[in-house]
Amino acid sequence: MTHHTASSPVISLTNLRKRFGVGEAEQYALDGVDLTVEKGEFIAIMGPSGCGKTTLLNIIGLLDQPTEGEYLLDGKSVEDLSNSKRARIRAKQIGFIFQNFNLIERLNVLENVALPLAYSSMPHLKRLVAASDMLKNFHLGEREYYMPWQLSGGQTQRVAIARALVNDPSIILADEPTGNLDSRSSHVIMEELSEVHKKGNTIIMVTHNPNLTTYASRVITMLDGKIDTDTKDLTIEKPKVAEKKPLGKASKKAAPKAKKKRAKKVKKS
Ligand SMILES: Nc1ncnc2c1ncn2[C@@H]1O[C@H](COP(=O)(O)OP(=O)(O)O)[C@@H](O)[C@H]1O
Ligand SMILES: [Mg+2]
Repeated sequence: MTHHTASSPVISLTNLRKRFGVGEAEQYALDGVDLTVEKGEFIAIMGPSGCGKTTLLNIIGLLDQPTEGEYLLDGKSVEDLSNSKRARIRAKQIGFIFQNFNLIERLNVLENVALPLAYSSMPHLKRLVAASDMLKNFHLGEREYYMPWQLSGGQTQRVAIARALVNDPSIILADEPTGNLDSRSSHVIMEELSEVHKKGNTIIMVTHNPNLTTYASRVITMLDGKIDTDTKDLTIEKPKVAEKKPLGKASKKAAPKAKKKRAKKVKKS
C-alpha cells in the first residue's frame, strides 16, 4: 500500500497498453507507457504521426480505456468506473481542446461555451452568464451571438479554449491546439494556456511545433507507442557562473519569449 502525501501525483500510468484491431490487423497504439504527472506540470508531448499521442490523451481524459495497465487519477484507479461516473469526472475536472475545435455549428458562441456546464446543477441562465464571463476573459464578449462559421481560425480556437475552461477544470488536455493557426495566433493561444498554468492547473499538450515547447515545464517525446525521451526544465537550478545578459534592443526583439532553458534529457531504455 502506498502512502498518499500532499504531493501525490494527479496522474499515474503504469505499463499502459492500447490495442486496436484483431488478428492480422492487431496493433498496439500504446505499448507500455509509464508516466507520472504532478499537479501543476505543463507537459508538451511530441512525436511522429501515429506514435500514439492522441490515444494517450484520450485515455488520460477518460474518453477511451486502455487494454492493459493501470491508470490512477488522483491516486484512484479509474478501471472500474461506470460510464456515467467517467462523464461526471470529465465534466468536473477535465478540459479538452481539440485541433479541429469541435464547435457545434448550429449553436452560437455563447451556447457552445456553456455546453460543458450542462452536467452541473447550475440553472440555464446562470450557465450562460458563466459562459459570457469566460468569453470576456478571451476578448470575445462581442462575439457571443456569432455562429461558429462567422469566426476566424484564431477566434474559433479561443472560443474552444473558453469552452474547455468554463467548468474550471484542474486538468487541461490539448491535442495540437495551434495546429491550424499561424504563428502569431499560436503564441496568443500559448500565452492564454500559460495564464491557466500559472493558476496551478495541470496542462498536457500535444504539439508538432518545437518552438511551443518553451512554454512547457516538461517535454516528452513518443515513438511507436512508447515514451522515448522525458525532459524536465531545470530553470530553477541556477548556473554557477552568472551568464552575461545580451545587450541591445536587437537581441531582445529576436527572442521575446524564449526563456533560457537548462534542461536534462533522459533517454528511456
Ligand atoms: N480508433 C482506432 N481504431 C484503429 N486504430 C486506431 C484508432 N485510433 C488510433 N489508431 C491507430 O493507433 C496508432 C496511434 O494513433 P494516434 O494515437 O492517433 O497517433 P498520433 O496522435 O500520435 O498521430 C495509429 O497507428 C492509428 O492508426
Ligand atoms: Mg493525434
